[in-house]
Amino acid sequence: MSDNDASTPSAIAADGLDAAGKHASGAPWRNFYGRFKGKTLKPNQVRDLDEMLPELSPGAVGWDENPDREPLDLEALFGGRDVWLEVGFGGGEHLAHQAASNPDVGIIGAEPYVNGVAMLLGKLRKSPAENVRVHAGDARDLMDVLPAQSLSRAFLLYPDPWPKARHHRRRFVTQEHLEPLARALKPGAIFRVATDIPDYVRQTLEEVPKAGFTWLAEGPQDWRQPWGDWISTRYEQKALREGRTPHYLTFQRQG
Ligand SMILES: C[S@@+](CC[C@H](N)C(=O)[O-])C[C@H]1O[C@@H](n2cnc3c(N)ncnc32)[C@H](O)[C@@H]1O
Repeated sequence: MSDNDASTPSAIAADGLDAAGKHASGAPWRNFYGRFKGKTLKPNQVRDLDEMLPELSPGAVGWDENPDREPLDLEALFGGRDVWLEVGFGGGEHLAHQAASNPDVGIIGAEPYVNGVAMLLGKLRKSPAENVRVHAGDARDLMDVLPAQSLSRAFLLYPDPWPKARHHRRRFVTQEHLEPLARALKPGAIFRVATDIPDYVRQTLEEVPKAGFTWLAEGPQDWRQPWGDWISTRYEQKALREGRTPHYLTFQRQG
């Protein structure tokens, strides 16, 4: 097939990008370097994904269904409750725990790794929580359609470390991700970051304040001790088993 076959509009290349580097839907080019899929899903996980994901949808997030990037109606979703966001919830331990402990809050989780999403759905099937919505995809697409100043809290827990220096720009704590997050958070909102990677701590403390946040630590205990409402995640358990030290960083969105 040629680069531009007959079925492709002339302004759109065969890779789906136009001359401005956008997809036909208008979506900007966003590389995602993580994994979308792992082990083969069990039949009950496939069923959960089919049956539960549509019910848990936060609304039109994808570029195909929402090319004009209309903001989500959080009021309709959560009836005026505070709204929290968890980026990359993995197996969903923390998200399910926070949802159960905070029924007066609405929580949206974003996770592109379908096996992780299936794990969260398994938890929600056992202990249903009406205050959870799930975007099974990239948090950047979700942040596009979150209304400005709509979130009171965000969690980034054990984000992918990308240890090689040449990959540091793939980390979530870059302005590409932090600026839209800052836009979606209310002034005074809390942003929690947990990581076991010292160089990730360094980059977080360098980049997050540049996006309009203040680090709230007053002494070492503030980053050594987990938050009072913490539940350990799968990645934290792995880090502890492998002898790494968790760091708990708390930021506040400036007013
Ligand atoms: C190291 S895992 C940690 C998972 C979980 N938070 C925990 O502590 O067990 C990082 C997770 O972030 C997810 N992730 C990576 N990039 C993301 C993005 N752009 N939007 C949402 N999630 C993302 C990955 O799929 C992965 O599940």
